[in-house]
Amino acid sequence: MTCLTEKWLILHLFLLAACYMQRSCAHGESPQVKCIYVFSDSISDNGNNNNLDTQAKANYNPYGIDFPSGATGRFTNGLTTIDYIGELLEVEDFIPPFANLGDSDIRKGVNYASGAAGIRNESGKQLGDIIPLRQQIKNHKTIVSKIIKELGGESKAKEYLKKCLYYVNIGSNDYLNNYFMPKIYPTSRIYNPEQYAEVLIKQYSLDMKELYILGARKYILVGLGLLGCLPNTIAKNGNNGLCVESQNAASLIFSEKLRSLVDKFNGKLHDSKFIFVNSTAGPVESTPAFTVTNAPCCQTRPDGMCVPDLIPCPNRDDHVFYDAIHPSAAFNKYTALTSYDSSISPETTHPISIKELAQYPIN
Ligand SMILES: *[C@@H]1O[C@H](CO)[C@@H](O)[C@H](O)[C@H]1NC(C)=O
Ligand SMILES: *[C@@H]1O[C@H](CO)[C@@H](O)[C@H](O)[C@H]1NC(C)=O
Repeated sequence: MTCLTEKWLILHLFLLAACYMQRSCAHGESPQVKCIYVFSDSISDNGNNNNLDTQAKANYNPYGIDFPSGATGRFTNGLTTIDYIGELLEVEDFIPPFANLGDSDIRKGVNYASGAAGIRNESGKQLGDIIPLRQQIKNHKTIVSKIIKELGGESKAKEYLKKCLYYVNIGSNDYLNNYFMPKIYPTSRIYNPEQYAEVLIKQYSLDMKELYILGARKYILVGLGLLGCLPNTIAKNGNNGLCVESQNAASLIFSEKLRSLVDKFNGKLHDSKFIFVNSTAGPVESTPAFTVTNAPCCQTRPDGMCVPDLIPCPNRDDHVFYDAIHPSAAFNKYTALTSYDSSISPETTHPISIKELAQYPIN
């Protein structure tokens, strides 16, 4: 959800990407982490909304056109950012959705993400049923109880769970599907942007403490993109094709507070490590790789999602956006790589990269 226009990636990035992304490159290696648990929205949803009564679902063509098994519920043409992060960490399989675990091993991770969900229970509700962050954590609680049983006791489970990564990428819908919809939600009349971000971060902070009680120690907390630059936002606000700066400013306040929360937790929460991912940072010296930065690849509905069953653009790798809200798989790959490896983009992660977090020893 970024709208970087000038600073682009270097050839270096592509060469690295080519190596990382080839399964052969990772072959024979053991994964860098044993488990990843995902708390998020449509940016990471891989099927949790498919059977919910909601408009916020993507289990239809042309979503998934570049995914091996087609449309799965992922809100993009191919892999999501967390799918790519899993590959970079040499995790063998995709993290399964909570709603459809089948016979997958819950000890390798579960994806609780739900399209349109936010930190606040009501965010995204105008689109139908969603699974807010609070409920995602409750779902994790039931998974942790099962792991305690499987491993034969709470202390064994804790010993195991502390080595997992906890990826939290949420908050966009508390703006897009709440604060920025004054006709449906009253929050923008109750709070100014500073106060609203503060209320969200307070709740977020409590939620992270709850995850801590459930054994989480290594956290990846992802900041918001430039929400005012989403093609859908630009189209709706008719601002001569320009980004809506007030919306960018509001989302930046949230991200700055999230970054401060990371610093606070790192000083305070015993034996844990938090990192912040800056979704609007990127490599500085670079050449343009994405030639279409502000238009969707598929034909979109008024809500910004793809119109079902129409053929999308052929040059998907040139596009930052797939529909009018969600990034293309090519952009997700770029996002994953810059947050995984700090040698590519030192300012994206703080204080350490995902690669370093994976290796970080926890007592
Ligand atoms: C949000 O939903 C959870 C259940 O998912 C519930 O326990 C909690 O009380 C709700 N919070 C508010 C503020 O309504
Ligand atoms: C993220 O990076 C951008 C570009 O370097 C910077 O302007 C912004 O302040 C950063 N955001 C946070 C929350 O640190």
